[in-house]
Amino acid sequence: MKTHNDERLFNDERDIMKALVLTGVKQFEIQDLETPEIKDDEVLINTAYAGVCGTDHDLYAGRPGSAAAVPPIVLGHENSGIVAAIGSNVTNVAVGDRVAVDPNIYCGQCEYCLTQRPELCEHLSAVGVTRDGGLEEQFTAPASVVYKLPDNVSLRDAAAIEPVSCAVHGLDLLNLRPYQKALVIGDGFMGQIFAQLLQAYGVHQVDLAGIFDDKLQRNKELFGVTETYNTTKESIPSNAYDVIIEAVGLPQTQAQAIEAAKKGAQVLMFGVGPQDAHFEMNTYDIYKKQLTIQGSFINPLTFRDAISLVSSGKMNIGGLISHELELEQVQDFLDGKISGVSKAVVKVGA
Ligand SMILES: NC(=O)c1ccc[n+]([C@@H]2O[C@H](COP(=O)([O-])OP(=O)(O)OC[C@H]3O[C@@H](n4cnc5c(N)ncnc54)[C@H](O)[C@@H]3O)[C@@H](O)[C@H]2O)c1
Ligand SMILES: [Zn+2]
Ligand SMILES: [Zn+2]
Repeated sequence: MKTHNDERLFNDERDIMKALVLTGVKQFEIQDLETPEIKDDEVLINTAYAGVCGTDHDLYAGRPGSAAAVPPIVLGHENSGIVAAIGSNVTNVAVGDRVAVDPNIYCGQCEYCLTQRPELCEHLSAVGVTRDGGLEEQFTAPASVVYKLPDNVSLRDAAAIEPVSCAVHGLDLLNLRPYQKALVIGDGFMGQIFAQLLQAYGVHQVDLAGIFDDKLQRNKELFGVTETYNTTKESIPSNAYDVIIEAVGLPQTQAQAIEAAKKGAQVLMFGVGPQDAHFEMNTYDIYKKQLTIQGSFINPLTFRDAISLVSSGKMNIGGLISHELELEQVQDFLDGKISGVSKAVVKVGA
């Protein structure tokens, strides 16, 4: 049996649990660790499910996500579970509560935190990025990021609350109106979430561009999408949309997003591109069309909204989760050895 760092040295009185530890670039080990201790303002959670996403691909490959993950570390930032213990100062959740955990923890003291933009915090820390996350049987989080779930939200769906909360933040940054016609570029998990979310927010027509016919068709039949474009064989109309969400992160789809913008349009650049990527655009268009080009970073204070959207039935999350993995399969998933994944969650606990 091993420990993954000096702070988790063995002590005969504490329980042992299974953890998937990132020990180096593209290196995972299943280890037996002691269950973590909690501070007065923290919660110990028996992990139910942990979602895995593109950020985990980056962290696994040694690239930063919202922050850098320094091995040895346990990933897993999209977590649900059941409260196993609470610190002496915790009042918002109790032992036995079913919860989802917002990974992002803000310092509360920097320039950005003090001007209502905590997502830009100078000292951002995150469960599953800078501190151990949900790819282990028990993990800890400050009570301030632990949210009790309504009875009708399953622990499986709750592992996808975090991505929904990022999409809610993106839409918070736009001025949405019912008359608008919206296009989402990207038929991955986030694109499909945005397609549903824009409708929940009252935008009257939402179209979707992607590369998979089956996903595009499903979004038309089940999720209220109007027009779809398979960009491998069809082009997206130019000057046609009031709101465009780019949810791929490639220079070509970012350029397509600008091209699809009509006068007065807002373009949300949600996809995460490679750090050195650039795309070209006509600068005169920004002036003449009075474009808004808006970035979006993580999910400040949007967890309650995301939980409510899932609980109200306005978001179908379960229908987008295609794979339920074991801890032992995470490395194969991140190595691209499991095909046809729309959204994967890892079933960590019983
Ligand atoms: N801003 C944030 O806070 C935030 C949060 C979560 C995810 N993201 C980013 O959002 C993006 C989408 O996330 P995801 O989880 O859906 O990833 P994903 O890999 O599941 O989806 C990307 C999808 O884009 C589609 N695609 C690829 N090329 C395309 C093209 N030319 N035209 C149309 N569609 C194309 C593919 O179907 C692919 O599935 C990623 O870049 C991710 O890093 C950003
Ligand atoms: Zn994620
Ligand atoms: Zn801060």
